[in-house]
Amino acid sequence: MSYSITLIPGDGIGPEVAEAARQVVDASGVKVEWREAAAGQSAFESCGDPLPEATLEAVRSTDATLKGPTATSKGIGFRSVNVALRQKLELFANFRPARSMPGLKTRFDDVDLIVIRENTEGLYSGLEHIVVPGVVESLRVITSRASRRIAKFAFETARRQGRSRVTCVHKANILKLSDGLFLDCFHEIAADFPDIEHDDCIVDATAMRLVSDPHAFDVLVMENLFGDILSDLTSGLVGGLGVTPSANVGEGMAIFEAVHGTAPDIAGKGLANPTALILSSALMLKYLGEKEAANRIEQAVYTVVGAGQVRTGDLGGTSTTDQYTAAVIAALG
Ligand code: NAI
Repeated sequence: MSYSITLIPGDGIGPEVAEAARQVVDASGVKVEWREAAAGQSAFESCGDPLPEATLEAVRSTDATLKGPTATSKGIGFRSVNVALRQKLELFANFRPARSMPGLKTRFDDVDLIVIRENTEGLYSGLEHIVVPGVVESLRVITSRASRRIAKFAFETARRQGRSRVTCVHKANILKLSDGLFLDCFHEIAADFPDIEHDDCIVDATAMRLVSDPHAFDVLVMENLFGDILSDLTSGLVGGLGVTPSANVGEGMAIFEAVHGTAPDIAGKGLANPTALILSSALMLKYLGEKEAANRIEQAVYTVVGAGQVRTGDLGGTSTTDQYTAAVIAALG
């Protein structure tokens, strides 16, 4: 079986890590027909549009998409390509596993969490306006439709992955209407999953508990901004942005990408750690049903990082992106 995959190299270190992930997938034996598509600053510079219609069409019509990071300027400039992709394609669920890697020294061992973030609304609705000069309002939209949908996704993920508990993270003590609705929807959906435990935790307390006792959690589900912040925190628990994969999932469509950004400080120098995008490609292969190849890719990464001889600079090593990629491919067997 051959798959048709859209590859969006993106900006900064994106093309370097995308090429590494492409080589690893090809070396895994899974047959892929890659279709390259442009997005981000590079697309804006070449065709005047950071998210060309041809790229959206490629994402819609291929089996899955592997995406490098894309740049978004602060303040004025075009809107985030990531936010636009998630909203236009209704990729409503952001799935970010944070799992300790063998041999990688971090404060806690055996962290194994999944953060599930609602991807389409909250403060990312893009609804901002100037009330009067000096006063700006940003609207935080929470709907029962999106809240039920993300809660269902969290419980289904927990069930599929043999997890025992889902925790709803919120601020319903202060945001009584919006997060009150999010929490009510969570409880309503929880009733359909009696085999999975559920509880809830206020977002600030969750942040404190995550850094003091991450083993207290299993699967966490939350709205957009809380998920953006806490998933970077959980990535820090297991070795940082360079090693954390993610998936943006909708109905019959998914984009797999690293959690990190374009790393302009090291772009073009061959120093980027491609692990996060390589592990994202393993998530993509699982999504396509290629579990055996996905597990082999994960094991190859764990073997190389665990042995400690070939690591990129962010993990304390001196290897280049190419040397590390070659070591992962060699470990694939
Ligand atoms: P960043 O993740 O690009 O960089 C933060 C720090 O981590 C830098 O020191 C960088 O060198 C390091 N780093 C990140 N990924 C690395 C890797 N794979 N290997 C080694 N070191 C790595 O975050 P920053 O600087 O806040 O954002 C830069 C740009 O990336 C911005 O334009 C931002 O909008 C964009 N961005 C895009 C994302 C995406 O497309 N999914 C996600 C996050 C940021």
